[in-house]
Amino acid sequence: MEKILTTLLIFSLFTGFLAFLLTLAKKTIGNYGIMKVTINEETEIEMEGGDTLLSGLTEEKIFIPSACGGKGSCGYCKVTVESGGGEILPTEFGYITPEERERGVRLSCQLKVKEPIAISIPEELFNVKEFHPTVTAITDLTPNIKHIFFTFPEGEEIQFKAGQYVQLRAPKYPGNHEEVFRAYSIASSPTEHNQVELIIGLVPDGICSTYVHKHLSVGDKVAITGPYGDFYYQDSAREIIMVAAGTGMAPILSILHQMKAMNSERRTLFYFGARHEEDLFFLERMKEFESDLVSFEFIPSLSKPHNEADWKGQLGRVTTCLQRDLMEPCEREAYLCGSPKMIDSIVEVLIEKGIPEEYIYYDKFS
Ligand SMILES: Cc1cc2nc3c(=O)[nH]c(=O)nc-3n(C[C@H](O)[C@H](O)[C@H](O)COP(=O)(O)OP(=O)(O)OC[C@H]3O[C@@H](n4cnc5c(N)ncnc54)[C@H](O)[C@@H]3O)c2cc1C
Ligand code: FES
Repeated sequence: MEKILTTLLIFSLFTGFLAFLLTLAKKTIGNYGIMKVTINEETEIEMEGGDTLLSGLTEEKIFIPSACGGKGSCGYCKVTVESGGGEILPTEFGYITPEERERGVRLSCQLKVKEPIAISIPEELFNVKEFHPTVTAITDLTPNIKHIFFTFPEGEEIQFKAGQYVQLRAPKYPGNHEEVFRAYSIASSPTEHNQVELIIGLVPDGICSTYVHKHLSVGDKVAITGPYGDFYYQDSAREIIMVAAGTGMAPILSILHQMKAMNSERRTLFYFGARHEEDLFFLERMKEFESDLVSFEFIPSLSKPHNEADWKGQLGRVTTCLQRDLMEPCEREAYLCGSPKMIDSIVEVLIEKGIPEEYIYYDKFS
């Protein structure tokens, strides 16, 4: 008995000593103190050493695009490091081209600040703001896609370009223990400044989309930051090809609102791909755009209609429609929105059809 008690005592003393060593290591080795971050040679902020650059900047209300919420899977949070910052990490390799690496481009969500650092970011990011709108309406567009209206309080106004996106915060909720931000394209007109509309699809087990579909209600106050993105309407005389599927409709809708506000006469073909009849939405709105915009045509295409005999639109994949329709040579530009896989296949066809790569604009909803 005495032997067991002695062994237990020695074991407890040993584990206690280990715990003490661990706490000490955490306080000393991992403690970098307060670090200085110099931005664009003129702004200086201080942040907790050891934290990611992205979180340090966010604390100071400098919002860097971070569509995946810092998971290292979108590649949007790039900044140029002028000095400090250490070596690029393997988690960044897939998103940084050799040319960017030469210039010191890094993913701010992966870079932990352990020494003073100087960075450059585009000036327009200083215009990205945090807003606290209230949900004023939610409607179902399909069984899995919701249309949500957010109205800003007095004094808050958003300025954005048609095609840009915001990031919506999903707070902790039953079953989700982390707060995340996710990117959602603005579907409303850029001429509206006190309200934004988003179109959000449910992703199975997705943190933010589940929050929106199962927990968000009219009257709730949310946090969004924005606007972000270099996918937006370009003023030119070229013919426009638009392609979207599912929630990819959102930024295209905003672009159409902008074109309507400008009384645009540019020839515009909008291909919208879906599987079944119930995956289509905003058909009435598209008819309205067809009557408001003199050269606009909406071309829905179903890959698997339930009732082929009754379906009056296109059949098959959008790539097939494009192969067939873009025969005549013409100066064109394209706006694409949807899954990365869909975008890659469309880009291939459009390049084959003679649209220069620099005139193909897209947002991959990754
Ligand atoms: C620039 C930009 C604009 C976007 N605009 C919109 C928009 O207008 N409307 C909209 O609904 N979404 C949009 N997205 C996608 C959106 O940001 C989120 O990725 C999506 O809502 C999933 O987030 P989540 O938190 O629900 O899922 P997460 O918790 O991030 O993901 C859960 C799991 O689902 C997988 N997953 C994530 N996304 C998808 C997907 N789309 N399909 C299948 N599996 C997936 C993940 O790999 C993960 O395993 C946009 C993305 C980008 C980059
Ligand atoms: S926030 Fe997505 S990669 Fe950094």
